[in-house]
Amino acid sequence: MVYQLIDKLMCEHILEKDEFLMLLNSINHDTSEYLFHKARETSKNHFDTDIYIRGLIEFTNYCKNDCFYCGIRKSNSSCDRYRLSKEEILECCKVGHSLGFRTFVLQGGEDPYYTNSELVDIVSIIRSSYTDCAITLSIGEKTYDEYKELYEAGADRYLLRHETATDEHYRKLHPKSQELSNRKLCLYHLKEIGYQVGTGFMVGSPFQTNENIIEDLLFIKDLDPEMVGIGPFIPHKDTPFAKMPSGTLETTLFLIGILRLMLPNALIPATTALGTIHPKGRELGILAGANVVMPNLSPVNVRKKYTLYDNKICTGEEAAECITCLRNRIGSIGYQIVVDRGDYRS
Ligand code: 5AD
Ligand code: FES
Repeated sequence: MVYQLIDKLMCEHILEKDEFLMLLNSINHDTSEYLFHKARETSKNHFDTDIYIRGLIEFTNYCKNDCFYCGIRKSNSSCDRYRLSKEEILECCKVGHSLGFRTFVLQGGEDPYYTNSELVDIVSIIRSSYTDCAITLSIGEKTYDEYKELYEAGADRYLLRHETATDEHYRKLHPKSQELSNRKLCLYHLKEIGYQVGTGFMVGSPFQTNENIIEDLLFIKDLDPEMVGIGPFIPHKDTPFAKMPSGTLETTLFLIGILRLMLPNALIPATTALGTIHPKGRELGILAGANVVMPNLSPVNVRKKYTLYDNKICTGEEAAECITCLRNRIGSIGYQIVVDRGDYRS
């Protein structure tokens, strides 16, 4: 029965709520292997064995938000804050380009220090300096007009995880000032403007139920994003959720498989969080249907400071400098990293 549900998901790209529930209640070794086999088949049809890389530039860890799960939340006074200058950001792009990156992801906390016109300036310079590259922004909730200005300056893509599609659950993860309705509105604005949009959620975040996950899947289906990033929740010692358990590898991989069957041509990263909870997490993510990895291009001296969760991998093999190690790792499972913008193709 569960196998038939996986077949149905592969053909129809959606299931009824009760079917999703049955599927999520049937995660075990055998159902996972069957799902991953189908997910890999789907990825290979659309992308062959190509894996796209994105150079992640974490340019500020200041954040005006106070998400209960996040290590760079504004209330965390132990967080050692930093900001990169325009010149430092451009230097990261330069290094990244020479290493073969053709997408730069500018990610940061919601930091009002960078005005929209400064961000427009940074995006414009990257756009004119690297005409063969895609620019992805991941800088949180903004107004329609701000998003539009950044798009017109040359940004191509935007990552904004919805975090959870259930209001009640959202309120357990965020202070009152942060609203799910605005986050969803931002995502629809980004789509309307023309960005390739990425959303996503944490797997095993505190209080998350399978019903919440199903709402996430249905929201994602409705939004129809070009990219979906999911990773396990991992506690951070200086947050209200310090003592909460991490999300599991098993469930995260299973959801990657489900997302691949739901959105066959989506760009789905094997996330850093997945690589943090298991030494082979990112390879396993690819074998479950992911087709993107996002190594860190930030200057080495700030990497440890961008800690959303404990034990985040941030030196050694996952780093962009060791792209050769990454190539070998990905090669060892039968895939290859390509030098390509890796745009969404419908
Ligand atoms: N564990 C895992 N992921 C986290 N994020 C923030 N805090 C954590 C955590 N403790 C994720 C959020 C955010 C993205 C940038 O990182 O989903 O959108
Ligand atoms: Fe919201 Fe970091 S404070 S994700």
